[in-house]
Amino acid sequence: MQDFKGRGAFVTGGASGIGLGIARALADAGMKVMLADIEPGALDKAVRQLREAGAEVQAVLCDVSDRAAVERAAQQTLAAFGKVHVVCNNAGVGGGGTMDEIPLADWDWVVGVDLMGVIYGIAAFLPHMKAHGEGGHIVNTGSMAGMLSPPGMGPYNACKHAVVTLSETLAAELAGSRIGVSVLCPGWVNTRINESARNRPPRFGPPREIPIAGRERAAQVAELLRTGMTPREVAARVMAAIRDNDLHIFTHPEMRPALEDRFRRILAAYDKAAAFKDRSQG
Ligand SMILES: NC(=O)c1ccc[n+]([C@@H]2O[C@H](COP(=O)([O-])OP(=O)(O)OC[C@H]3O[C@@H](n4cnc5c(N)ncnc54)[C@H](O)[C@@H]3O)[C@@H](O)[C@H]2O)c1
Repeated sequence: MQDFKGRGAFVTGGASGIGLGIARALADAGMKVMLADIEPGALDKAVRQLREAGAEVQAVLCDVSDRAAVERAAQQTLAAFGKVHVVCNNAGVGGGGTMDEIPLADWDWVVGVDLMGVIYGIAAFLPHMKAHGEGGHIVNTGSMAGMLSPPGMGPYNACKHAVVTLSETLAAELAGSRIGVSVLCPGWVNTRINESARNRPPRFGPPREIPIAGRERAAQVAELLRTGMTPREVAARVMAAIRDNDLHIFTHPEMRPALEDRFRRILAAYDKAAAFKDRSQG
């Protein structure tokens, strides 16, 4: 997609962090942007900041884990802009804990936001994008956690792997159409993702205190985020990927060895299958 001017965009989690960075970049390219977010104060502040910079933005309060709320937000966006050409399913939350200790309510929350939120966003906008026929782009925010499986964040990893594969599936299904698909897989970015509990909808129960054993790791994560890439830099990568119709968007080349190590281990297991087959046939 090359033509951004005057066209409509929808960004979930647009009130802060990476979503706000993407919204700002889309607005700078001349798009009308709808910020959809669950946090009213941050949403108001983001709209004020962007408008002061001359952007054409609007906001809708929306919990992406609530299918009806996403549908309502989509209707509101279409009523405001007429058409939408860029959809960024970006809202996400993180919750820590090992697989034996993490409460099922945390799974429900993380799956609701990080996976179902993306699915609801696609379901709400894809038929419209196909119908207007002018092309466009869908950006789903995954993570390097969708490429690797770091311990202590099972629900997050599971959702992000799912977002990678559903994006790859969607790209294959839309190949040859004028709708592009990208999955954004950043490493550490300087945002408040480690304070996700601030936006936990009450229906998922109260947030859990970080267990003492997890506090050192939480402090390390806070430091990695603090020294991470800026949302602005991530947004610049996203804009380039939309223009080039890149499926995978990576931002942290220094994480390549970890990915290579995973692929090596997978291929070694596959070699074992070939050796096993040879032996059983021989
Ligand atoms: N920060 C990182 O290091 C990093 C790395 C890889 C991927 N990501 C992903 O980037 C995306 C954005 O996260 P971020 O790092 O900017 O964090 P952030 O906490 O700064 O921003 C997340 C935004 O999503 C909103 N949100 C949370 N729950 C919501 C819900 N139920 N409905 C609607 N909005 C909701 C929040 O209010 C917030 O504005 C997430 O999908 C996250 O998983 C972040």
